[in-house]
Amino acid sequence: MCDYLKQKYGSLALVAGASEGIGAAFASYLAAAGINLILVARRKEPLKILAHELLEKYKVEVECISCDLADVNAAQQLRDALQGKEINLFVYNAALSYIGAFEKNTIENHNQIAYANMITPMNLMQVFADPMLAKKKGAIILMASLAGFQGSGFLAAYAATKAFNRVLGESLWYEWKDRGVDVIACCAGATSTPNFINTKPEKADFFAPRVQTPEEVVKECFEKLGKQPSFVTGTGNKIASFIMQKLLPRKMAINIMGDTTKKMYRL
Ligand SMILES: NC(=O)c1ccc[n+]([C@@H]2O[C@H](COP(=O)([O-])OP(=O)(O)OC[C@H]3O[C@@H](n4cnc5c(N)ncnc54)[C@H](OP(=O)(O)O)[C@@H]3O)[C@@H](O)[C@H]2O)c1
Repeated sequence: MCDYLKQKYGSLALVAGASEGIGAAFASYLAAAGINLILVARRKEPLKILAHELLEKYKVEVECISCDLADVNAAQQLRDALQGKEINLFVYNAALSYIGAFEKNTIENHNQIAYANMITPMNLMQVFADPMLAKKKGAIILMASLAGFQGSGFLAAYAATKAFNRVLGESLWYEWKDRGVDVIACCAGATSTPNFINTKPEKADFFAPRVQTPEEVVKECFEKLGKQPSFVTGTGNKIASFIMQKLLPRKMAINIMGDTTKKMYRL
């Protein structure tokens, strides 16, 4: 199916935030390509169930690591648990979000959002890129979001971390593009993951592209990996993003985003 991934990048991938949704879809895609996996999330049980499924279906080796990626020591804990194993493909999918008025969230939760979404992936990229750069071979995928393209009221801290992911990914795409390591920031729109569904969003009418499946997001991401520093997933999201970023004044785009979030979450 997609054996080129193994030939191009190597045979061991780590997916952070792998137990469900987009992360599980990344794990399945990589397993189908014959790539062995290390799956990371907080809850052990869903990880074990997925690992068993992938082992049965694709005969790949799957290791599960339970780790809270919002912990200030998460990158070091994961590094210790890996015991020197070299990661050839690194997917950072996990994210924490808070929907609501900024001042109503706690400082502790805002800090957890910052660690899970920015500090931990940045530190892990540094750890995993070293051997990739030495071998001139490897790939890193960071999950970003349309929310990170402009101010996104009522998603403020989450949106800001997603802007960070995109800029970090694009910057390292440039630094490493001639050194054999492909980096891409995948800017998704609404995707039908358990996490998204659990937030019980209402359909917003203005600029509301179709909700994508995790599999659609992942397939397009691997098509774009090695070709672009970042991309917006899906045709509907691309059109909405073009209008918001290129045609509308920034102030209007920020207002539309905030109004849409307010409506979606009845705030
Ligand atoms: N779904 C969307 O509509 C959408 C839209 C745009 C961008 N994105 C981006 O796509 C990515 C995936 O989103 P998602 O909706 O699939 O769900 P998610 O809730 O962001 O992530 C789900 C996965 O991450 C793990 N995870 C969450 N917090 C973690 C933590 N602190 N430590 C370790 N693992 C953690 C979860 O397992 P455990 O709970 O067991 O830890 C689960 O495996 C995120 O980066 C998100 O920003 C999603």
